[in-house]
Amino acid sequence: MIYDLIVLGGGPAGYLACERAGHAGLKVLLIEKENIGGVCLNRGCIPTKTLLYSAKIKDSAEHGKKYGVIAKDVTIDHAAVIKRKNKVVKKLVSGVKSQVKGSGTTIVDGEGTITGTSADGYSVLVNDETYTAKRLLIATGSSPIIPPIEGLKEGIDSSFVATSREMLELMEVPKKLIVIGGGVIGLEMASYYNSAGSDVIVIEMLPTIGGTIDSDIAELLKKEYTKKGITFNLSSKVTKVNKSSVVYEKDGESIKVSADKVLLSVGRKPNSNGIGLENINVEVERGAIKIDERCMTNIANVYCAGDVNAKSMLAHTAYRQAEVAVNNMLGRKDIMRYSAIPGVIYTNPEVAGVGHTKKSAEDLGMNITEKAITMNYSGRYMAENERGEGIIKIIVDNEKNTLCGVHIIGNYASEIIISAGIMIEKEMSINEIKELIFPHPTVSEAIREAIFQL
Ligand code: NAI
Repeated sequence: MIYDLIVLGGGPAGYLACERAGHAGLKVLLIEKENIGGVCLNRGCIPTKTLLYSAKIKDSAEHGKKYGVIAKDVTIDHAAVIKRKNKVVKKLVSGVKSQVKGSGTTIVDGEGTITGTSADGYSVLVNDETYTAKRLLIATGSSPIIPPIEGLKEGIDSSFVATSREMLELMEVPKKLIVIGGGVIGLEMASYYNSAGSDVIVIEMLPTIGGTIDSDIAELLKKEYTKKGITFNLSSKVTKVNKSSVVYEKDGESIKVSADKVLLSVGRKPNSNGIGLENINVEVERGAIKIDERCMTNIANVYCAGDVNAKSMLAHTAYRQAEVAVNNMLGRKDIMRYSAIPGVIYTNPEVAGVGHTKKSAEDLGMNITEKAITMNYSGRYMAENERGEGIIKIIVDNEKNTLCGVHIIGNYASEIIISAGIMIEKEMSINEIKELIFPHPTVSEAIREAIFQL
């Protein structure tokens, strides 16, 4: 049988593409070597959120006194947290699998390699069997980067060094945990293990945490977690990993720090090797598959969605890229836009942002105005955050009189950021935004307040 579409990889990009294409009437084959759901469902977004929710409950109970609630001897039962995480993941994976099957997609368990082209289309080899399709969607995801530093480049000692994958399976909380890399994964893991009782040290080579997030917000997040007991060693580059210690360089000095466990979270790299891209000449740039705005590669009818193109390594970007790719396969005009993709760090407090920061806008020479206000302008925020120090920043494009960035630290940021995303995506004018009615009392009103305070 010749399929209309073979999807390589069943993560968010792959499984959503199958659903959309299958329901549109295409004959689809999905090839997945592990569990459907990819990193996001099995070893990323969802499992970390279950852990972080347990941490949040513990933190709330511990600080209940501020709200007139007394709870004694609050601890995390880590094994129970992991067990619950496994249950949530299992349920979601089976739900996604049945949705994919419900779209008529055929699922093959195994590792697929693109072998070439024929008159019928593209050939993919899995478990010694060749499948053919008129179109391909490459959605093979990404893997943790293992930096070529001493003690890692020779191979990882897994009893000491873990990536986020192994950290989500640990049955015991390490007494002392070193987190190498203060990006998104590092901060979320540091947050959970700090609540679970680890003595956490974050070592980050840049002078700030959180990568490209707004620098004031990064500073507030650091302050909050320093209060909770995390040590941050910034402008510190890890140069060596020993049997039970890590060496980093700061201001020309070499410093050794020991621990029970090390989490390596220094970024992820696209899974573009070993899938046969060279057999059909798909263009790859620094490991990432090159795509156009239709999510098509340089080869006709070969599409790509998700982390493997490294445009923005987020599950929600992957979803949208998959839809854009499938729409184009179906002859519907659709293009991918990247200017209003929200980013969230699920720490406590949460951090969320969309669009430009002041820095990214100024780097482009844009004429902007930034307004920052405390989240305490929201009555609900005040009611639920005793001594909360949250802030919201809005960035306005003065030429267009539109919003071009919103950045928040404070809880529910993850849930309200989409409203700012819509305002940016739809290029609403400031006057149009002023006419919107926000529910009261909600934390989202902080966006409205910031707009009026411009
Ligand atoms: P990242 O790129 O966010 O952060 C890695 C950090 O490691 C950087 O700040 C970098 O300066 C630092 N670093 C690199 N080498 C170092 C060294 N030798 N010593 C000290 N520091 C060093 O990467 P991360 O956290 O691994 O996340 C990977 C991807 O996963 C990201 O693209 C992110 O978007 C995605 N992700 C998203 C989540 C979310 O949306 N909530 C959650 C988890 C992951």
